[in-house]
Amino acid sequence: MKVDVVLGLQWGDEGKGKIVDVLARNYPVICRFQGGPNAGHSLQFSGKSFVLHSVPAGVFRKNTVNLIGNGVVLDPVIFRQECLDIAKMGVNPTENIIISKRAHLILPTHRIMDAASEASLGKAKIGSTLKGITPTYTDKTARKGLRVGDVLAGDFSKKYNSLTQRHLLLLKQYGFQYQRGKIKNEAASMEFNLKDLEAEWAEAVDFLKKFRIADLEYEIDSLLKTKKALAEGAQGTMLDVEFGAYPFVTSSSTICAGACTGLGIAPSKIGKVFGVFKAYCTRVGSGPFPTELSDAVGEEIRQKGHEFGATTGRPRRTGWLDLPALKYAIMIDGVTDLIMMKADVLDTFDTIKIAVGYKVGGKKTDKVPFDPDTKVEPVYKEFKGWKKDLTKCKSAEDLPAAFKRYIAFIEKELGVRISYVSVGPDRSQTIKL
Ligand code: GDP
Ligand code: IMO
Ligand code: MG
Repeated sequence: MKVDVVLGLQWGDEGKGKIVDVLARNYPVICRFQGGPNAGHSLQFSGKSFVLHSVPAGVFRKNTVNLIGNGVVLDPVIFRQECLDIAKMGVNPTENIIISKRAHLILPTHRIMDAASEASLGKAKIGSTLKGITPTYTDKTARKGLRVGDVLAGDFSKKYNSLTQRHLLLLKQYGFQYQRGKIKNEAASMEFNLKDLEAEWAEAVDFLKKFRIADLEYEIDSLLKTKKALAEGAQGTMLDVEFGAYPFVTSSSTICAGACTGLGIAPSKIGKVFGVFKAYCTRVGSGPFPTELSDAVGEEIRQKGHEFGATTGRPRRTGWLDLPALKYAIMIDGVTDLIMMKADVLDTFDTIKIAVGYKVGGKKTDKVPFDPDTKVEPVYKEFKGWKKDLTKCKSAEDLPAAFKRYIAFIEKELGVRISYVSVGPDRSQTIKL
């Protein structure tokens, strides 16, 4: 059987968590394949809401198995808290989550290094979620990292201490000194109580041992003999380490190919590729955003769309839909089905704009530039708003004609069918077209 993939096509927070929860009804296996607790995936059903960071969004569906793949970086402390919160919802996570031995561990010092690196960049900072993502992936590619499977070995403490010592040396270069259990940088007014962080981490590592820690690539191969799987991307294609506006990216492969390397499946196993996008754009953190609205319209989208980070609470930057960026993501990911989220946020707008191209140096283009400093001017097409409450629509027949014209235009421009529209945060507010 195939692995279908759900991917964010923009800068993250497209609504992947909601859609995976909706689709999970039809998939007995759900897998995360990259990223870590920088992700915040919101779900809402039966009057309850939940934000997941490391656990796949199939966890609340009966009879699903939820896999955390080798491409993921896992912070045991955040994972433990998340599992305790899931248990309060009446689900036993130790029964339906399996973790790859090859997933890398986020250490307390990785988080401190993330903070030190961002502080050292000043105004040029990336706007990281400070969850230790970059230092952990750096150790992975530098072949220095610790993996989940290592926690089961007798020499785990030795390996942990050796990596932490290395981090303390690196932190010195950022002006951080280690003294009596604390890591301090007086010039930057930053202090971390490493001893406390380590105690919490050790407790969380013990908790991790309650889960099935497996050779997940074999496990998936065997599951796929009889079951179909859904892979849940984190972040978005425009934050990909290769194809995003480098260096304003995350440190993992957020594209479709990342599902293969992050789970250990062959490209021929990939089935449908669901590309998730909002009817407008948002971005958290620094980096280019051609259609950004720094005016009252942008603020209206932020307020109506509750555009504040699910992980950090930071206000998200907002702007109009960007078709050149979407076309780029569709090309890289091989999207077969589009899913449009949050059009209801635009319900009251008289006019709605879509960027259909860019102007760079006075010349028209529809290509995403290499250099993040390139000055890009969007070329807009304006639409009349539909001025109807989409959240009340239950089926395709209920959707207003002006909205149907709007999505037909997007489909034509992108050359891919929109299979679902989401008209509210709840599981039930999803329309199959
Ligand atoms: P993810 O990271 O891609 O899973 O997305 P987030 O959960 O970070 O952000 C999406 C936000 O939009 C969450 O607060 C969702 O509850 C909410 N949401 C999802 N779909 C819709 C929708 O169709 N309409 C509205 N109004 N909100 C939605
Ligand atoms: P989900 O899965 C939105 C952004 C950060 C920052 C950059 C690098 O919820 O869509 P990192 O912590 O990875 O070093 O930050 O990437 N970022 C996200 N933005 N949604 C996310 O995840 C994100 N994960 C990271 O804001 O600009
Ligand atoms: Mg999110």
